[in-house]
Amino acid sequence: MAATTTPAGTTVARATRLGGALRLPGDKSISHRALMLALLAKGASRISGAGDGADVRSTAGVVEALGATVEREAGEAGNVDYVVRSRGAEDLRQPDLPLDCGNSGTTMRLFAGILAGSAIRAILDGDASLRRRPMARVVEPLRAMGAHLEGMSGDRPPLIVVGDDGLRAITWSTPVPSAQVKSSILLAGLAAEGTTTVRESVATRDHTERMLRARGVAVRTTAGDAAAGVAVEIEGGQVVAARDEQVPGDPSAAAFWLVAGAIHADADVTLRGVGVNPTRRAIVDVLARMGASIEERGSGPDIGAAAAIGEPTADLRVRSSDLRAIELEPAETAAAIDEIPVLCLAATQARGRTVIRGAGELRHKESDRIAGIVAGLRALGARIDAAGDDIVIEGPTALRGSVVDSLGDHRLALTFAVAGLIAEGSTTILDADCVAISYPSFFADLERIQS
Ligand code: S3P
Repeated sequence: MAATTTPAGTTVARATRLGGALRLPGDKSISHRALMLALLAKGASRISGAGDGADVRSTAGVVEALGATVEREAGEAGNVDYVVRSRGAEDLRQPDLPLDCGNSGTTMRLFAGILAGSAIRAILDGDASLRRRPMARVVEPLRAMGAHLEGMSGDRPPLIVVGDDGLRAITWSTPVPSAQVKSSILLAGLAAEGTTTVRESVATRDHTERMLRARGVAVRTTAGDAAAGVAVEIEGGQVVAARDEQVPGDPSAAAFWLVAGAIHADADVTLRGVGVNPTRRAIVDVLARMGASIEERGSGPDIGAAAAIGEPTADLRVRSSDLRAIELEPAETAAAIDEIPVLCLAATQARGRTVIRGAGELRHKESDRIAGIVAGLRALGARIDAAGDDIVIEGPTALRGSVVDSLGDHRLALTFAVAGLIAEGSTTILDADCVAISYPSFFADLERIQS
């Protein structure tokens, strides 16, 4: 057994070999957006290969509560094929109950933008982790557009949104790079009078822009020089068209196997159909710079059904590698933000001192990921420290199995499970069930690549 679960936690034993091919969960960011855009479009949209993590289910639940019918069928590799039928953005249903966003920041922040420009009133709520997360970053621009939003102290959830179908366009510079904030403003901008512009110092994931374009909405992106960053513009009053979409494999899920393969002494793993959108592939490039043996086949916008929504995919093959330390500047850290925990694990096996600069945003994710990764990897014997917003790791260090706390955070639990594959003895992860937020089939895949 590769992993066993008892009330005391989930235990992963050191693996002798990792080999084989995997198909990953459908990209979480794209799955959320596909469901939301299907709600805004009049007619039927089929979404194939959506991730079936709890976060995407939360979005499907909100889409249903706002009046669409959502049919789900089991798809390939534990994914889901959805058919969403909606009356469109003009005709959302007034919900009777608070909208439950569960653990999902993307669900709450993007729906805040959608609801801001609607004619209904709603409460967006979530679990204890989501209730601790900052929402002022979306509340402020949406208020500036004329929407009415109220949160608890510090604008934390639950959020009350009283939609206003007379929103005004704004130009907004995001103080921290965030695709969620950008997307929330763009979705509100769709319902506003005039042209809404979001400026960001670093280009964040651009799925909302690509997927809106695929549904007939004009969205303009202007890249300035490094200092000017990127500007994204959307004209209000455009109609989102219904369409079918194929969701690519999640590069953030792929990251766990890329690191597992690179740090394990006897590994050869292939990941099929992984999204390699330029705004998501930083982890592949950073690992390659560290010396990871990663082969990429079939990349390019013309390969695969996902290309129809402008999302390139590739098969990635990773083999055991001799890693060297790396320094990441804040812009690279931002580009790989969800992959930083597992990158810290890779750094424990790399020769030299790895410095990850400007990782402060990790404190505002599903948990304080800086505290969580430092405590967890230290418990396994790693030499890792936080210095302000930077993370410093000295390697290589032979890890030894221990008990580590995921803090209920899926990306920490997944990172510690991968650490368990190379740690001496066995590694017990507390609260590892939270992997189901983004990767419900993880422990089954872990079994598969060891047989
Ligand atoms: C996401 C954007 C990122 C990321 C999150 C998903 C998205 O958050 O961390 O997991 O789907 O837009 P921020 O935009 O807040 O950095």
